[in-house]
Amino acid sequence: MSTPPMTPPKKLTSQSIVALKQGAQKIVAITAYDYTFAKLVDELVDIVLVGDSLGMVIQGDCNTLSVTLEDVIYHCRAVSRAISHAHLVADMPFMTYQTGAGDAIRNAGRLLASGKAEAVKLEGGVAVCKIVEQMVQFGIPVMGHVGLTPQSVHAFGGYKIQGRDERARNSILQDAIALEEAGVYAMVLEGMPTELAKAITERISVPTIGIGAGVFCDGQVLVSQDLLGMSPDFQPRFVKKYANFAETVKSAVGQFAEEVRSGMFPDEQHSF
Ligand code: KIV
Repeated sequence: MSTPPMTPPKKLTSQSIVALKQGAQKIVAITAYDYTFAKLVDELVDIVLVGDSLGMVIQGDCNTLSVTLEDVIYHCRAVSRAISHAHLVADMPFMTYQTGAGDAIRNAGRLLASGKAEAVKLEGGVAVCKIVEQMVQFGIPVMGHVGLTPQSVHAFGGYKIQGRDERARNSILQDAIALEEAGVYAMVLEGMPTELAKAITERISVPTIGIGAGVFCDGQVLVSQDLLGMSPDFQPRFVKKYANFAETVKSAVGQFAEEVRSGMFPDEQHSF
């Protein structure tokens, strides 16, 4: 008897991500910035995000503000070539959408057309909801992002947990409601108390994806470099390191260097 062919997992879309809110399984999201990594994780997760975190983990900047639309298009296009299962989302960089609906639609259009993203993510709530509404009307799936929104780092005076007092809690809740009414299909909740993320998750009908926002969100996202332990000096409380890639890379490259210097590599097996 022959083994039946394996059915590949189905392609996830913004619609299937919305449907996951009703299911028992949490949504799993991870960032990716290149083809090789995206190929490894495509079938393991529900969402691959080409985040503007690339300004920090790829470009080595101290925040995300200098990332350009061209940067995200470049990385997203590379990632898209590896994606056959996960839902692919691209971040809209700082000031590519805040300046008005025209800019937002044009720039999101480029992320979808040239970057091959299937949806865009942008930061902010009440302040951007009119813009989001128009983007959605033009057929652009938009993922929201509220709480500790990294593009507002200077306004926050650093990367600080948001929503600590009653007023701030209410303001973030209003942001989430405004985004839902504007038509987002999902929303990242970043850097906020667990109870606030729980209240938002219960209040809105679209899935919430948390980062530093506790266990009650409909899903979780982490920056790939963080969860793989690639930056030994970066250990915020919300990051769990599932591997120690820093040590693995240093040990492998150290061994390569040693073998090249001693003449051990290449040996006969690796020569022609
Ligand atoms: O830029 C990014 O990677 C993000 C996630 C951390 C949510 O926005």
